[in-house]
Amino acid sequence: MSFLKPAARPWRATDFTYSRVAPAAFDAELLHVLRTTALVESRADQYGDYLRAVFAARGAHWRDAIDQWNREEREHGRALRRLAEAAGGGFAFERVMHAYLDGVAYHACDGRSVRGSIACELVARCIVEALASTFYRVLRDCCRDETGRTVLHALALDEARHCGMFKALLDAECAQRPVSLRQRLRVGLGRMLELSDDQIMFAAWLVDTAAEPHYRSSAVARRYQAALYPRYRYVHLCFAARLICPVLFGRRSVAVDRLFATALWLGLRLRATLSRAALALARRPRRTQWQHR
Ligand SMILES: [Fe+2]
Ligand SMILES: [Fe+2]
Repeated sequence: MSFLKPAARPWRATDFTYSRVAPAAFDAELLHVLRTTALVESRADQYGDYLRAVFAARGAHWRDAIDQWNREEREHGRALRRLAEAAGGGFAFERVMHAYLDGVAYHACDGRSVRGSIACELVARCIVEALASTFYRVLRDCCRDETGRTVLHALALDEARHCGMFKALLDAECAQRPVSLRQRLRVGLGRMLELSDDQIMFAAWLVDTAAEPHYRSSAVARRYQAALYPRYRYVHLCFAARLICPVLFGRRSVAVDRLFATALWLGLRLRATLSRAALALARRPRRTQWQHR
C-alpha cells in the first residue's frame, strides 16, 4: 500500500544541465521569486520532521509516505538552488540559508498539529501542495530559459502528486474520523490566506537587494506579490481549483471548480493591482518642503 504515486519520470537535482542556463532569460522579479523559493524548499527536512511527529500514531505506511515525500522535497530545494545560482546575479545561497534557518522557526516537533487535528493538518497540506504545483506551472510558463522550464515543469508534476498523496491520507483519515465541511473550509481557506506568511516573507526579505529594515514590513510582501501575481493566468487558476475543490468540498463538481477558479482569479487580480499601485506610490519621489509651499 503506497499513498504516494511513483513519478512517471523520477528525477534528481543533478539530472539537469545548469551550465546551459542563460542568465539573460531571467528578469529581476523572476530571480527574486526563484531565490525566495529555493530557501523555502531547502528546509524540507524540518517539514518532514514535523509531519512524522504529527502522524506518528498512524503507523509505518504513513511514515513511508512522508519519508519519500521528504526525499523528493529535498531534491526540489537542491534543484532550485542550482537553478537560482546558474541564473546569475551572485546568489550567496549558503550565507542566506544560514540566516533563514536562524531567523524564522518552523513548527515545534511535539506531535501536535498546529491545525488542531490530523485531518485538518492534511487539508492544509493538500492546499499547500496544490498551490505549489500551480505556482511552478506559472513560473514555467513565464520562464524563457529551456533548462529553467524543464526544472519547473518537473517540480509542478511532483507537487501535484504530493497533493494526491495528502488527499489519499486525508481520505484514509476521514474514513475513521470524518471532518466537517465547515472545518475543511475554515482550515483550507485560512491556509490560502496565509500565503504571505513568515516563512515566505522572511526568505523574500533575505534575498531582496533593496530590503526594508524589517521583513514584516508591508513593502516586502508588496514587492514579492508584485513580482509574482501578475504572472498568473486564468488557466492556472482552473488547474488550482481542480486540485483544491475536492479537498475543500469533499467531492468533484465542474461547476464548483469553475466558480472557485473565477473567485481565485478575481482575488489575485485585485491583489496584484493593489500591490503594483502601492509599489508605484512608494517609488514616487517625495516632494520637498519647498514644493509644498
Ligand atoms: Fe516542493
Ligand atoms: Fe511538495
